[in-house]
Amino acid sequence: MSEDVLIEAVSEGVIQIRLNRPERMNALGHEMSGRLAAALESVVAAGARVLLVRGTGKAFCAGADLKERLGMNAIERAAHNAAINAFVDGLASAPIPTIAVVNGAALGGGCEIALACDLRVIASGATIGLTEVRVGAIPGAGGTQRLPRVIGRALALELMMTGEPITGTRAAAIGLVNAALPLEELDARARSLATVIASRSPFGVRRIKRLVYEGLEMPEREAVKRERECLKQVLSSKDYAEGLAAFSERRPPQFTGE
Ligand code: COA
Repeated sequence: MSEDVLIEAVSEGVIQIRLNRPERMNALGHEMSGRLAAALESVVAAGARVLLVRGTGKAFCAGADLKERLGMNAIERAAHNAAINAFVDGLASAPIPTIAVVNGAALGGGCEIALACDLRVIASGATIGLTEVRVGAIPGAGGTQRLPRVIGRALALELMMTGEPITGTRAAAIGLVNAALPLEELDARARSLATVIASRSPFGVRRIKRLVYEGLEMPEREAVKRERECLKQVLSSKDYAEGLAAFSERRPPQFTGE
């Protein structure tokens, strides 16, 4: 069995999907992309509270596998893209919080995987960018839409039109990632972030995620109305009852996500 996709238990409720093809800089082959989508489905079905996505070796992910792509005809190329998109779109719509742990180069589709996650932490010296125009392509896994939504239109256009990657340090300065830190501190930071989020009410965290993404696509007034409707469900949830009880009993809450 291929071991290019690994599912790793990190801590209570925290699971990591590892792109494990370091000899190709974790480039996304067609079959590997299918395995990533399947891994994502199984992690969500298993009830994980937080998902980390990381690469093995020097790179996070160097995008589509350009060597595999070279020998493909147009139909096969489209199918390859569809497989990558099934994973990246699945990540973007995952009900649970997701964190990209960008250990090294995140280029093209690799950057798009990171953009499809809710949070991103990166090694300061890593490079990240939508570099597709360098090879005559365009970002095709949500990059043209997600990058401007994260860093704004002008900077996103500059990065995509030049195809120049930037360092992790700069990515943090422009808000593309939540934090840039030395590589040796990266996993610890990602894990502590994930552990804190996993300890919070899953009922609340999942709803916050949905309200933010869906609300940003709506007029503010309508989005605020949705927030208030959602709040009604939250106020009668078991997690809220547990939070109130734990507060009054001066103990940590044990949330179940119901
Ligand atoms: N597809 C297939 N193979 C890839 C790859 C990709 N996207 N990116 C890297 N590799 C392979 C290289 O061909 C090389 O294989 P080889 O040893 O058999 O020659 C191996 O991974 C190591 O890459 P190399 O370029 O030697 O390492 P590096 O440290 O000098 O550079 C990168 C790493 C990621 C900066 C560089 O490989 C790169 O720019 N890759 C292309 C990224 C890209 O443009 N992605 C967008 C696709 S639209």
